[in-house]
Amino acid sequence: MTRVLAVASEVFPLVKTGGLADVVGALPAALKPHDVTMRVLVPGYPAVMAALEGGSKLHAWDDLNGGPATLVAGRAAGLDLIALDAPHLFDRPGNLYLAPDGADWPDNWRRFAALGHAAADLGSGRVSRFVADVVHCHDWHAGLAPALLHHAGRQAAASVMTIHNLAFQGTFPASIFTGLGLPDIAFAVDGVEFHGQVSFMKAGLQHADAITTVSPSYAVEICSPAGGMGFDGLLRARRQVLTGILNGIDTDVWNPARDAALPQRYDAASLSRRATNRPAVEEAFHLDASDDMIFAVVSRLTGQKGMDLLGECIDGLVAGGARLAVLGSGEPGLEAMFRAAAARHAGRVGVIVGYDERLSHLLQGGADAILVPSRFEPCGLTQLCGLRYGCVPVVARVGGLADSIVDANQAGLAAGAATGVQFMPVDRTGLESAIGRAIALYGQRKVWTGIQTRGMKTDVSWTASAGRYAELYRDVLKRRQA
Ligand code: ADP
Ligand code: GLC
Repeated sequence: MTRVLAVASEVFPLVKTGGLADVVGALPAALKPHDVTMRVLVPGYPAVMAALEGGSKLHAWDDLNGGPATLVAGRAAGLDLIALDAPHLFDRPGNLYLAPDGADWPDNWRRFAALGHAAADLGSGRVSRFVADVVHCHDWHAGLAPALLHHAGRQAAASVMTIHNLAFQGTFPASIFTGLGLPDIAFAVDGVEFHGQVSFMKAGLQHADAITTVSPSYAVEICSPAGGMGFDGLLRARRQVLTGILNGIDTDVWNPARDAALPQRYDAASLSRRATNRPAVEEAFHLDASDDMIFAVVSRLTGQKGMDLLGECIDGLVAGGARLAVLGSGEPGLEAMFRAAAARHAGRVGVIVGYDERLSHLLQGGADAILVPSRFEPCGLTQLCGLRYGCVPVVARVGGLADSIVDANQAGLAAGAATGVQFMPVDRTGLESAIGRAIALYGQRKVWTGIQTRGMKTDVSWTASAGRYAELYRDVLKRRQA
C-alpha cells in the first residue's frame, strides 16, 4: 500500500475553476485498484468547510501566516479530504484567486505558502496520526511543499510535482522570501529564485523527486524555449525525472448512457437517439431549429484557448452553413466579441457567458463537434468528453490535444482510426480550414457516424494513466531508498 497526500487548490465537485479540479477529484478513486490510498489536502474554502462531514482535528497552529489554522480531516463528495481551515486566508466569498476588483488577492503568496507548509508538515511526520509516503503537488499553489520537504531532510516523504499549466507560475517579489520559512540558500538559481523574484512553480520543479505533466506531448513542448515559458532550461536539466501522463476523465460523471443533464440518453449502439438532444441545445442557446451542424465551445474564454482566432472565423463558419454555441467566461474583450457575434448572427450563433456544468453536458450530448483551437494545451479535457459523447473534437495539434485525437485525414480514415479533426498551424487559416473540413465530413453521414462511434469507443478513462501514477510513486520511493 502506497500512501499519497495530494495537494491542490481545487477539487471537483467542491471547488473548480478548470480541469485541475477534475483531475484532483478523479485520481483517488482511479488509484484505489493500484494499491494506492490518496488523501487530498485542500484550502478550507467556504465550499470545502461546508461539505466536510465528520471532520476531526488533525493539527493546529496558533499562527500560520497571520492567524490561527487547523487541519480538519473528513469526507466530502466521496473523497478523503484534509482541509486547511485558516479563515484569515481562505474564508472569502467569490473567486478563489481574485479579489472582487478582478486583481489577484494581494496575499496570494501567504495563502499558498500556508498550503505548502501544511503539506510539508504532513509529509515530514510533524502531524501525529498521519503518515504519507509521497506528497503529490499540483501546480504552483502547492509548489512550495517540495522545497520545504527537500530542506526537511531525507526522512521526509518523497515528492512529485505535476504541471497542469506552466503559464501560471506563482511569481512574487523577492521581498516575500523571508516569509517563506526556507533557508537563505534557497534564494538562488538552483532554488526558488526566478529572474530576481520568487516562483512557487519553480520551487516545486526544482526540488520535487519527480515531475509530471498531463500529456506526453506537453512534456516535450515545455523542454523547448517556445513552450517552456522560461522554465525550459530547468526542465531540460531535469528531463530524466520528467514524464507526461495523459489525463483521463471520470467516466461515471461523463457517461451519456446515464447523464441526467441530457433529455435523451444514449450510447454508441443507440447513437441515432442522440439527435433528440439537438432541440434542447437550440433552445438553450437561442438557435433556430434546423439540421445544420452545431459547433460547440466549452471553455475559458482566453488567448491560450485560441478564442480570439475563433472570433475571426465565426463569419466564415456561419457562411459555410454551420452554427455555433459557446459556453464560457473569461477575458472581458472576448466575452464582448462573442456577444457581438451572437447579435450579428441571431439564430445561428448563441453565447452563454458563465459557468454551468449542466449546460456543458448538454452541449457534449447534443452539439455535433467541439472546437478546441488552443495555442497550447497541457492536456485538455473537453475533447475527451467530446470523444465519449460523440461530439467530434476539432482541435489544434498541440499538447494533450495532439495525443488524444486521431485526425480524419486520408490515412486516418482509410485505417478506420480517425476520431476528430486536427489542425496546424494554430492561426486563422489553420482553424478556418479545420472548420471547413469538419463541415465537409459532417455532410458524409456514414463517415461522420464512423468518427463519432470510434470516439465513443476510445478509452478516455483513468484506468491506464492511474497505473502510470502508481508506478511513478513506487519508483520515487525506490529511488529514495537507494
Ligand atoms: P482548463 O483547465 O485549461 O480550463 P480543461 O479542458 O482541462 O481546461 O478543463 C476545463 C474543465 O472545465 C472541463 O471539465 C470543462 O468541461 C469545464 N468548463 C470549462 N468552462 C466551462 C463552463 N463555462 N461551464 C461549465 N464547465 C466548463
Ligand atoms: C490545466 C490545463 C489543461 C489540463 C488541466 C488538467 O488547466 O490548461 O490543459 O487539462 O490543467 O490537467
